[in-house]
Amino acid sequence: MNAPTMQGLTIQAPSYVKNAKLIAWVADMAALCKPEAIHWCDGSKEEYDRLCQQLVDAGTFKKLNPAKRPNSFLAVSDPTDVARVEDRTFICSQQKENAGPTNNWMAPAEMRATLQPLFDGCMKGRTMYVVPFSMGPLGSPIAHIGIELSDSPYVAVNMRIMTRMGKAVYEVLGADGDFVPCVHTVGAPLEAGQKDVSWPCNKTKYIVHYPETREIWSYGSGYGGNALLGKKCFALRIASNMGRDEGWLAEHMLILGVTNPEGKKYHVAAAFPSACGKTNFSMLVPPAGFEGWKVTTIGDDIAWIKPQADGSLRAINPEAGYFGVAPGTNMLTNPNCMRSLDDGVIFTNVALTDDGDVWWEGMEQDAPGKALPAHLIDWQGKDWTPQIAKETGAKAAHPNARFTVAATNNPALDEAWDDPKGVSIDAFIFGGRRSTTVPLVTEARNWVEGVYMAATMGSETTAAAAGQQGVVRRDPFAMLPFMGYNMSDYFQHWLDLGKKLEASGAKLPKIYTTNWFRKGADGKFVWPGYGENMRVLKWMIDRVEGNQTEGIEHITGVSPRYEDLNWTGLNFSAEQFATVTSIDKAAWEAELKLHEELFKQLEHHLPKELPETKAAIEQRLAA
Ligand code: GTP
Ligand code: SPV
Ligand code: MN
Repeated sequence: MNAPTMQGLTIQAPSYVKNAKLIAWVADMAALCKPEAIHWCDGSKEEYDRLCQQLVDAGTFKKLNPAKRPNSFLAVSDPTDVARVEDRTFICSQQKENAGPTNNWMAPAEMRATLQPLFDGCMKGRTMYVVPFSMGPLGSPIAHIGIELSDSPYVAVNMRIMTRMGKAVYEVLGADGDFVPCVHTVGAPLEAGQKDVSWPCNKTKYIVHYPETREIWSYGSGYGGNALLGKKCFALRIASNMGRDEGWLAEHMLILGVTNPEGKKYHVAAAFPSACGKTNFSMLVPPAGFEGWKVTTIGDDIAWIKPQADGSLRAINPEAGYFGVAPGTNMLTNPNCMRSLDDGVIFTNVALTDDGDVWWEGMEQDAPGKALPAHLIDWQGKDWTPQIAKETGAKAAHPNARFTVAATNNPALDEAWDDPKGVSIDAFIFGGRRSTTVPLVTEARNWVEGVYMAATMGSETTAAAAGQQGVVRRDPFAMLPFMGYNMSDYFQHWLDLGKKLEASGAKLPKIYTTNWFRKGADGKFVWPGYGENMRVLKWMIDRVEGNQTEGIEHITGVSPRYEDLNWTGLNFSAEQFATVTSIDKAAWEAELKLHEELFKQLEHHLPKELPETKAAIEQRLAA
């Protein structure tokens, strides 16, 4: 076996690792990062348990009360390392215009020169984990392999839940298979005798992608999409580049199956921006009035969608677990999710109860009398009481607190979730978080109009990303933070796909836009949301099936009239419905100015169909 040594460190790969390129790369990275040891992850349960125990011993994990929350742990991060860092995320293509105006860019050579001194010795005193993973079912022709080198055991155990991780990946990789190299460091080398902290990280952060060479380098953060490199970095930013070159789509979309009472099944992929309801919608429980309807989850965050020879679009979820938002999740909003969290979960930045369980804002809805807990330890390790919360506004859980859990924990998991062939998509949904302006649901009249609405989607920012919250920004296709190349070229890619499908004579998926988040004068959401979103989903499915009611045609497409939705089991008046569906002329004039600003920003390579569609909307608005 190949066993290069560097500075006393043996790069002894296990005998089942046969890929010479991989072994050479690990040796190179070890020489650069200078870890104290190398651990080749095999993905076994024993290894997972051992690493979790090690995290407990190091103070990173707290083991939760096994009677309340078996096989589960709580991690709390450094208070400065709680979300994705968009301003530190870079697409380093050779040409600046290939990264486009919505991405941070640096020339690859310049970025390499910047990172070199940071990575030099960055893993001193730590173990480098070699984490082999497959995005998508192992060995599937649509799956891709990555290898993440990380000095964070927290990353290693999370990757085991989030991806197909372990030894079997090497069988697929073989002696000369390809992989996406992903290097991750928390950027906190330990000098001899230096004591570690429970959440090492660095205030300098770089989340770097080299699209041409398909590489990922991440420095300084241990949290979420910054560190679990299979997720946003690979499955969206790098994979969007693969998709452009090879004619497929990598999207920030949930995938669900919906079966009607006649037993006919449809598949829907929905792009909502970060923390705007994908996990919730993918696990939807149909409310009263929808007996016989069933919703099943294929994925909750990412979809890889490949056009087939017959003109259908087959979609897979490249992930194997959920890294979902905890606050707001409870038995009323998402019972399937709550049941998924019973056993075998890693919680990050939620609060700890006095009996060793977890708590977050929203869980009071499930307590008798909706009572708040009398005392908690908040995510920053401080005492929390209802009184303290009232006086200081302190949140027990960080608003971006998350759980990591295997998809197989989900009681609503679709039987095809692991099918290498994927599922055939019948409809796309794009849905932002908008207090005003955008109606509850609209069907695009055609593919181009759907692409227009997706491209110009606005959404209020959330705690999923560091920075200001609640400000409306354009988030095209819910991909603004995840686009790995020029946004206008991506719009073109979608338009080209539509043309190609049309040419094949196939029935194109319908495209919808939704907004669950319109607010009333009292500042509260008017639409009840969550399971009640089924009412909107059924309207869409009926239209896919061709069972349509008339609807109302307006400036951006077709919306249902009050009488077009099934209201059985819900008190929601025609007046309330008007509040969430009305089209306000002045608001849309202002909205279209924002579309104009976006198009100005994206001028280079902007497909002409988009300004043309805008002109048509303006004409309808003026009429
Ligand atoms: P990422 O994992 O960040 O990509 O987010 P996501 O889109 O999966 O978001 P998620 O489903 O976790 O929802 C985030 C927040 O939105 C939670 O606090 C939910 O309670 C809230 N939410 C989800 N669906 C609805 C809805 O229909 N109406 C309202 N008002 N809130 C919702
Ligand atoms: C998102 O922000 O859209 C997420 C969470 O899904 S993270 O993986 O941290 O990007
Ligand atoms: Mn996401």
